[in-house]
Amino acid sequence: MVAGRAGTILLCLCFIWCFTSIEAGLYNSTDDVVILDHTNFSSSVHGTENAWVVEFYNTWCGHCVQFAPTWKLFGRDVRDWEHTIKVGVLDCAVDENVPICREHDIMGYPTIKLFAARTTKGGTGSDMPHVSTVKELNEAVIDFLVEKQKASSGSNSWANLQPYKGEAQALLAPASGGVRWAVVVIDKTKSYAAQSVVLDLAGYPSIVVRYKEAEAEDVGRFGSGGLPAVVVAGRDGKEEVLSDAGKSRDKMTAAIMKKLKLRREMVSGRKSTSMREGAGDGQPEEINKDKLNYGDDLPDAAFTSLERGDQVFMVDIENAVSYAISHEVAQQKVISGKKLLALQEFLDILVRYLPARPKVHSFLSKFHQYLLNQGDSIEGNKVSEVISSLQSKESVLPRHQPWIGCAGSDPKFRGYPCGLWTTFHVLTVNSVLQDGAKRFYDPLRTVKAIHGYVKFFFGCSYCSEHFQAMYAEDAESSIKVADDTILWLWRGHNKVNQRLKGDVSEDPQHPKQQFPPPTVCPSCWQGKDINAREVLTYLKTIYAKGALSFRGTQAIPGPPRNRQEKVQQQLDGSRKDRKHIGVLMSDQNKKFSKERGPQNSGSWSFTNTDISLCVFLYGASTIIIMAVYCSVVIRRKMRRKKFVESYKLPHTADGSTPEMST
Ligand SMILES: Cc1cc2nc3c(=O)[nH]c(=O)nc-3n(C[C@H](O)[C@H](O)[C@H](O)COP(=O)(O)OP(=O)(O)OC[C@H]3O[C@@H](n4cnc5c(N)ncnc54)[C@H](O)[C@@H]3O)c2cc1C
Ligand SMILES: *[C@@H]1O[C@H](CO)[C@@H](O)[C@H](O)[C@H]1NC(C)=O
Ligand SMILES: *[C@@H]1O[C@H](CO)[C@@H](O)[C@H](O)[C@H]1NC(C)=O
Repeated sequence: MVAGRAGTILLCLCFIWCFTSIEAGLYNSTDDVVILDHTNFSSSVHGTENAWVVEFYNTWCGHCVQFAPTWKLFGRDVRDWEHTIKVGVLDCAVDENVPICREHDIMGYPTIKLFAARTTKGGTGSDMPHVSTVKELNEAVIDFLVEKQKASSGSNSWANLQPYKGEAQALLAPASGGVRWAVVVIDKTKSYAAQSVVLDLAGYPSIVVRYKEAEAEDVGRFGSGGLPAVVVAGRDGKEEVLSDAGKSRDKMTAAIMKKLKLRREMVSGRKSTSMREGAGDGQPEEINKDKLNYGDDLPDAAFTSLERGDQVFMVDIENAVSYAISHEVAQQKVISGKKLLALQEFLDILVRYLPARPKVHSFLSKFHQYLLNQGDSIEGNKVSEVISSLQSKESVLPRHQPWIGCAGSDPKFRGYPCGLWTTFHVLTVNSVLQDGAKRFYDPLRTVKAIHGYVKFFFGCSYCSEHFQAMYAEDAESSIKVADDTILWLWRGHNKVNQRLKGDVSEDPQHPKQQFPPPTVCPSCWQGKDINAREVLTYLKTIYAKGALSFRGTQAIPGPPRNRQEKVQQQLDGSRKDRKHIGVLMSDQNKKFSKERGPQNSGSWSFTNTDISLCVFLYGASTIIIMAVYCSVVIRRKMRRKKFVESYKLPHTADGSTPEMST
């Protein structure tokens, strides 16, 4: 009986545990789906250029639990299609979400709805035909998009899925200068593979990609077994058939990316452009909002092998910013007057335009805020204190990490000045990309803020003097429109390169030359003349936030929100540092056992171990209850049988019960 009661208690506990862990919803931030709720469903789905496909689910529904892995895989499958369609989820089990589910007439779970571009408030989307696999979902989405586009109710930001008729080369003429290649995927009529490739690659600003339905001449050219075929045309007039492209969507996409040196990070540059187009919807603008799109701690390991020769690295930028603030600024005795204004302005530019990782961005914002709140002057030693006090789990000024792009062949070469130039170019380029087209954009402002920093804080004083002279000479007279911002700094840097050619400070491994050398940008040069328009395009390509490599940036651990996340973080960490984990885990366990007070039970979240334990205890208690039940029942039956028999039948001579007759 005691065992039975213990079993029951455990059973109840199990229900509470399982309940709490399921309540969190079926999706989390690690999934490639946008989690929507009552606070942001409408602002996300209504009025956007991209279409949406949203799963309305219910945490309690078994079908939904079964379907969730498929939906996650689907989200992953189409994660590069955001320019055209985004994948969302909404949990109708959450009380606050109920009005939305009601409005959308969700009668069963899961229900999948498709929303066209610029769906207005009150628009409730259309039901997706019943499908169950990732492939079917993928195809149903393409059907929807093609149909909308045919009816001219797509959007300019979408990938063009309509069949193209013509030569690849002809796509380049009308395209903007940034487009360097045209890609045509030729396949049979209604090829989902070809259309998927178009969607996979439409986010890259350097290419235009279309699907062509094979005509008789194409079949003649490639043979019927040669389809799908991929044709790539360049600005130089050359056309090439990718012979190793394979036949499947994945293989074709990968082959094209490899051939044209595309990396997934490059896509976000395009994202910011489309966000700019979509602006002006009356929503207040959040500074740097679209910059906070880097998952923290995510080095771009996946595509590191495709780094370009002229790759720009985030580590170099973080090092320079960190050194600037914690050494050059903090070293000042007193910062006041024009100096303080210059610092405030430089921080303002960093906060606005540096595509920093979220926690670094958070530090810069707080530091900026601090500077704005100071009266007329700050003492340098106070700055050091403030820098340490602003460091937290949420806000980080990274410590020195090994240089990559700015690594010198000897420690005395390159490093900080190189990182500072890199930071400056990133600031000018991203200020133009982000705000250059806006009415309020002041083309001189970014360069002026850079000048202010160099003038008052840059430790190399003759560098600073040269730079000030350069600024005084022609900055204000020559910077008239947004792009001049980028070009002025480029010209100025080239003047310095020219002057330092052959100088003792020159790293023999990195000779000073006019930038960009023809080896990295052939189109920038016509013989001995440099073409500024091409250079502009080139600078916008390499310094854009989407092009920066995160290789070598050290993970910034986030504040562990619950045990599940903490453990996950340690597991991630263990890949890098297996020795460390034992210590961390045992610390963690100590902490957790402290947290285990009954008052906390409502807010626990659970790991797989908890769930297995739960299932185990559930099983064990069931068996114990059954055992107790059986033993009681059997004993009672026996006693009853004995009693009945002793009553009905005469006792045998020896007093034992006679055998049953049946
Ligand atoms: C504001 C400033 C002024 C300086 N003035 C002087 C000076 O007067 N005298 C002196 O001895 N040193 C000066 N320096 C230092 C010097 O310019 C170099 O930074 C240092 O010698 C290290 O050179 P580097 O080879 O690493 O390349 P850097 O010149 O530091 O360049 C860094 C990276 O920027 C890219 N780059 C190069 N040129 C351009 C360009 N024109 N446009 C866009 N990107 C480019 C390249 O990828 C290069 O690797 C100055 C530095 C700064 C930040
Ligand atoms: C998200 O859910 C998956 C399982 O669906 C789990 O493995 C992962 O740890 C969760 N991540 C977070 C941050 O909760
Ligand atoms: C909507 O809000 C929820 C909870 O506040 C959040 O988890 C989710 O990421 C938000 N989604 C979007 C698209 O902002």
